[in-house]
Amino acid sequence: MTSQGGNSLLQDGQVFSLQNALIYCNPTEVKMSQMVLPCHANHQGELSMGQLLKWIDTTACLSAEKHAGCSCVTASMDDIHIEHTISVGHVVNIKAKVNRAFNSSMEVGIQVSCENLFQGKEWNVCKAFATFVASKQGTEKIRLKPFEPYTQEEQVEYSIAAERRRMRLAHAETIKALLLKSAVQEECNQSETVNVVPAEKTRVESVELVLPPHANHQGYTFGGQIMAWMENVATIAASRLCNSYATLRTIDMFHFRGPSQVGDRLVLKAIVNSAFKNSMEVGVCAHAYREGSEDSLRHLNSAFMTFIVLDKEGQPITLPQIKPEPGDGVRRYNEANARKKLRLDRKYIISCKQTEVPLSVPWDPCNQVYLSYNNVSALKMLAAKRNWVLDSEKNKVKLSTLEDGQFLSFKIEMEVPLEASTIFLILSDLTRRTEWDPHYQKCEVIQKVNDDDTIYHLITPSVKEGSKFQDFVLLASRRKPCAAGDPFVIAFRSVTLPTHLATSEYTRGEVQCAGFSILQQEDSQTKVTYYNQASPEVLPYITTDIAGLSSGYYTTFESCLKYIERNKNNITLFMQEHKL
Ligand code: COA
Ligand code: ADP
Repeated sequence: MTSQGGNSLLQDGQVFSLQNALIYCNPTEVKMSQMVLPCHANHQGELSMGQLLKWIDTTACLSAEKHAGCSCVTASMDDIHIEHTISVGHVVNIKAKVNRAFNSSMEVGIQVSCENLFQGKEWNVCKAFATFVASKQGTEKIRLKPFEPYTQEEQVEYSIAAERRRMRLAHAETIKALLLKSAVQEECNQSETVNVVPAEKTRVESVELVLPPHANHQGYTFGGQIMAWMENVATIAASRLCNSYATLRTIDMFHFRGPSQVGDRLVLKAIVNSAFKNSMEVGVCAHAYREGSEDSLRHLNSAFMTFIVLDKEGQPITLPQIKPEPGDGVRRYNEANARKKLRLDRKYIISCKQTEVPLSVPWDPCNQVYLSYNNVSALKMLAAKRNWVLDSEKNKVKLSTLEDGQFLSFKIEMEVPLEASTIFLILSDLTRRTEWDPHYQKCEVIQKVNDDDTIYHLITPSVKEGSKFQDFVLLASRRKPCAAGDPFVIAFRSVTLPTHLATSEYTRGEVQCAGFSILQQEDSQTKVTYYNQASPEVLPYITTDIAGLSSGYYTTFESCLKYIERNKNNITLFMQEHKL
């Protein structure tokens, strides 16, 4: 403990006291600030995105290594949406911190902002998530120490990082399924009247020799350097489409498949796969080889980038269409069109703030992974909120509320003397909720999407006497804990299905975010919490309870408890049903 004048630099873990105010500092946080110089910019005086990717990767890698205590490599980078260009003279501020450590990998969250020193203004440029893997020592995989979240924001990121990881690891399969579907379309329909450019005109091939400044101290090429080289060839391909400088807007999620080292030759190839009205998709692949080696080319990485071309007023111009080469060209053209839909779904469902997402997102097999992510992460975010207020308690069943902007949410907590995994199985079957919840009249499975996700059709009595019954189409997403200390989760949200549109028989209701968190406690008790971001359909039920005029919540959850008790010795049935 040291003291310097009025500022006591009292260190307690990572909590510092400065002028009697406690300041927390994330132990993995790394900051980088760079003045954008002409050598970092293109001919228009804008920071090259390749340079930005190098800075992002370096900052993130240093953060990962701070946690791991050993050298780390970039395994993957999630989608990056670049909102603004950055000019020479601006300062780029990058902040990176570990959100969660898994086994040998970590998710690092990166925030990039741009600062105008002369106007004293700062604005966000992009947010990114990268996964780093601790380099093996010999053949031994490193087992990382867990990252302990401290602030509420860190707890939310920690909890949702598990969901992002799940989505990342499913990414290759999701894309494969999507491309199989897109392969059915063989023709590429093009109007004859508009400007058409042969894709061949945009083809680029370039080679780079990996030198020591491009690699870490162990001689492995920095991921950011490879990204920068890939961005360079992609920009050339994009700019060839209409002989005008193209601006990078998004980079799709990608994975570094294998390492490269000093002395490797990297072959980078790019071509415009398809052009839409104002944007185009450029595909790039990177392969490595060693001179004099018999080994064939090693595929390091493939990436898909979206570019636009801006006019003098900074507005995106209408692009010419692409005429793909027969064979691979037509296949890539169709795949690019399919990826565009997926990209929009991803941006819409994932990047939007929860409150900006319309209640019922249309469900289809291609966006299933993202809806499932959105479903579970919305519940985790609601659960992580700190300003819950206890309104009522009866026999240890607690009712709390949270007022957050325009939303009123409530949660009901109870302790159950059973294993969390048993309760999870029993509560997983929504069709049997009619056995304990009087608000559930009928509940049927519409579609069992996979082991974790099921879509249900639910019918409930109306809130107003004499009115029509209500119906809901609900996506239920189940999750087992990713690590000790995580809860089991069953999340519900409304989705729209073309086969189950609203009918005149029922009033269609919508659920934005609801579900159970089931957390094993140390004393063989399990804390079961039901959350609901109250929609008009449930508000009347719960507000009388909140006002202390009734205790309907208690009666319902007592009935839930009895249902769990009745079924606790019957779980093999639930296991068969849910393949758990
Ligand atoms: N996105 C995020 N993480 C991924 C991933 C992906 N697409 N694929 C694998 N991982 C994670 C796994 O989940 C696992 O994490 P965990 O240990 O915390 O559970 C970890 O990577 C190791 O996975 P494993 O299956 O043991 O190894 P692998 O054979 O899949 O290798 C890499 C993964 C990343 C180590 C390997 O692909 C590699 O060396 N890539 C090149 C990395 C590099 O050099 N980057 C710099 C630029 S070339
Ligand atoms: P595929 O070749 O199956 O389309 P890859 O992962 O090999 O997939 O390539 C990714 C992207 O890289 C392609 O969509 C394409 O845009 C670009 N690409 C691949 N090969 C070439 C090439 N020979 N010339 C130019 N660009 C290429």
